[in-house]
Amino acid sequence: MGILQKLFHAEENIQGSKFRAIAVGLFVAFGGILFGYDTGTISGVLAMDYVKEHFTSAGHFTANETSLITAILSAGTFCGAILAPLASDTLGRRLGLIISCIIFTVGVVLQIAATKQDLLIAGRVIAGAGVGILSAIVPLYQAEASPKWIRGAVTSCYQWAITIGLLLAACVNQGTHSRNDSGSYRIPIAIQLLWALILFAGMLVLPESPRFYVMKNKVPEASRALSRLRGLPEEHEFIASELEEIVANYNYECSFGASSVFDCFKPANHQLKRILTGIAIQGLQQLTGINFIFYYGTQFFQNSGIKDPFIVQLIMNVVNVVMTIPGIALVEIAGRRNLLLWGAVGMCVSELIVAAVGTALPDSFSANKTLIAFSCTFIASFAATWGPLAWVVVGEIFPLRVRAKSVAVCAASNWLFNFAIAYATPYLVDSEHANLQSKVFFIWGGCTFLCFIFVYFFVYETKGLTLEQIDELFETCSSARHSKAFVPSEGFAAHEATQTDSDKA
Ligand code: GLC
Repeated sequence: MGILQKLFHAEENIQGSKFRAIAVGLFVAFGGILFGYDTGTISGVLAMDYVKEHFTSAGHFTANETSLITAILSAGTFCGAILAPLASDTLGRRLGLIISCIIFTVGVVLQIAATKQDLLIAGRVIAGAGVGILSAIVPLYQAEASPKWIRGAVTSCYQWAITIGLLLAACVNQGTHSRNDSGSYRIPIAIQLLWALILFAGMLVLPESPRFYVMKNKVPEASRALSRLRGLPEEHEFIASELEEIVANYNYECSFGASSVFDCFKPANHQLKRILTGIAIQGLQQLTGINFIFYYGTQFFQNSGIKDPFIVQLIMNVVNVVMTIPGIALVEIAGRRNLLLWGAVGMCVSELIVAAVGTALPDSFSANKTLIAFSCTFIASFAATWGPLAWVVVGEIFPLRVRAKSVAVCAASNWLFNFAIAYATPYLVDSEHANLQSKVFFIWGGCTFLCFIFVYFFVYETKGLTLEQIDELFETCSSARHSKAFVPSEGFAAHEATQTDSDKA
């Protein structure tokens, strides 16, 4: 059943105010704009004449400087993501996001004030830490706050916001790069303060995740938060039953003992399998080579002999935004596994064509057209599948007890690979050490083949299940390939909880 049909007609929607549930998830997705804009703005800033003139002694950035300034953000985001659970598990998901906005703002102010590379780099690391924290909390909060029938679509909107952020950055850079004053870089950098302010203000008003309250043994608060999220009175039977399921499942998970970050890697409760899936899906998402296009696409298209690489880069961004929409619409229809498999095939074919054409026919007009067309199909395949789904999957596969820590570890894996690719690419593609140019797409194409194999064997289908039923899925279904056939049993969580209690007695 399509999203719109579900929204307006499905019986499941009696579970409260559907629009409120969606609005909360969508609003939090705003964090994606910070993420996308911040990662997208730097490539344009480094290409600005004013910046080159004032931030370098030679009048241009060396490969070392470009690598460092571009990739350093991911170093900050990596640390932010790893540290995120300190905030989200102790102070809450909501306060965690508020703190991330404050840290981000400090980093942005430093970058605005910068007139030398040192302060620009320091500002990027600090802003990066803010982005890292939110990248680990947004999918968590969205998955925990959304009802199951729309959870995948709502979480996908985070990715959509990332793509919009990237596009906005490309547009703003385009608008200011020809200025011959400090506004050329200060304006695009300063605009980010607005995104942080909006998210900050919103988080002051939105309710905390009810699952966080349950973890803190604050059941009345959890009930209030759930009632606000669902738009139903606390006494309503749906609130009572949803809460009961969350509490019973949490008690069951606690029977495995207290949780620390090391528990994310323990075999109990199939946690090791889950965390390896999350780490791999995030790492592989980066190894598709997507950020090669977003960080270095302009230079790549320029080197391939394309006349207006800025416009081509803008087209790539538009395709990325537009093609995320079918992804959001399909996630609850086609399911996670199918989309990830189709996406891997689409990316693999497109990238191998780009690599082959770029290598065999460099600099010809028809080769350039083919290069642009298949770069677009690569971006489209990514945007409709792996872009949103890598975030959806990590938001929903972990048990509550270690969910925040596990999502953080997975987000950190994303940033680690992001850093490695951002740092290594200039050396791989265009330097005296290696001059791969289009051939680099053979590497990304090979990685997307691995993406296919990985999903086929290891990614479970979680469409239409509550977060608690996903626990049952991992408990009872030993093979990801058969997970589509899984049917949740009535009251699994409550049953297991009771059993464990009596076992303990
Ligand atoms: C995903 C990736 C991010 C990339 C973006 C492009 O969110 O995690 O690194 O820039 O997609 O749309």
